[in-house]
Amino acid sequence: MADTELQHVSRLRDLDDDALNQVLELSGRLKGRHSRGDLVGRTVGLLFFRGSLRTRASFETAVHQLGGHALNLTAMSDFWELEENEGVVMDGRAPEHIKDAATVLSRYCHALAIRPALGGSHWDSDRNDRHIKGWTRHASVPVINMESALWHPLQALADLLTLREHLGRLKKKRVAIVWVHSPTPASPAVVHSLLHAVLRSGMNVSLSHPSGYELDDEVMDEAHALSKEYGSEIDLGTPPEKAVRDAHVVYARSWQSIESYGNPTLQASQRSKHTNWRIDEKLLASSPDARLMHAMPVRRNVEITDSVLDGPRSLLYEQAANRLWSQMALLIHLLR
Ligand code: CP
Repeated sequence: MADTELQHVSRLRDLDDDALNQVLELSGRLKGRHSRGDLVGRTVGLLFFRGSLRTRASFETAVHQLGGHALNLTAMSDFWELEENEGVVMDGRAPEHIKDAATVLSRYCHALAIRPALGGSHWDSDRNDRHIKGWTRHASVPVINMESALWHPLQALADLLTLREHLGRLKKKRVAIVWVHSPTPASPAVVHSLLHAVLRSGMNVSLSHPSGYELDDEVMDEAHALSKEYGSEIDLGTPPEKAVRDAHVVYARSWQSIESYGNPTLQASQRSKHTNWRIDEKLLASSPDARLMHAMPVRRNVEITDSVLDGPRSLLYEQAANRLWSQMALLIHLLR
């Protein structure tokens, strides 16, 4: 069904600076204007191999608002496990290969958006995003990553839109990315995509996390290269009190340690030493104008206190709402 030049969005870098700007500008123009007919007669397949609230609801709504049909499929209830390795004898759990699913669904759908399951055992394996790569290799329509182990480009788009709306010009403004404690931390995907997104916007970044929560090495190598290219600065290993001081935005996120990835006992023991890593009024006192962002879901009074979350600094609901507009703009960009 591909009737345009095929472009996948596995990560934000798949959109060059011009495309990224166009998508963000269109997102702003779309805001508040619900119904458009850009996707009339088109179907977007949304495949979830693990749970989601915002991504699923905002993507389905985005397709609907553009006049298209969202085909929402949940693995294990609507279909089955898919084999992602090539050339294997398929005598294991998965009764179908991604190659066949992607080829068939490309004949029904004009784009496919995928949230893969995470292996959760070996970072070196999960970081390869093999599942997303399987879809991009075999689909003949655009494939959009709805959050893999390594990247969450859709969240980064909404984050950039939110930052632009609240800070205007982003160059030389500063975001403090602060690790917070959660008993159910996510993969570092949100922070990886955010870090590259803000560096590409010329923002300076203070990254604050306990020792052992360093981000993926290759993502960091690219981050340093981006900071040189875009004239932005990265400040690593900053204590949270210093990171948030005079920051324009504090972005809170809990992510798993790559060091102990796949070892829940070690992860829990490591985390238990950092339960005081939380965003509260006291931490933010040195930064009276800083706004607060978080990709959600958020554990109230564990990651962020109620008073901050419900207070005037919080951009969380606007950030979540921006998932809708930025995904509408991305779909128009990919399928125009
Ligand atoms: N931020 C985000 O992707 O939320 P969901 O996991 O609910 O989709």
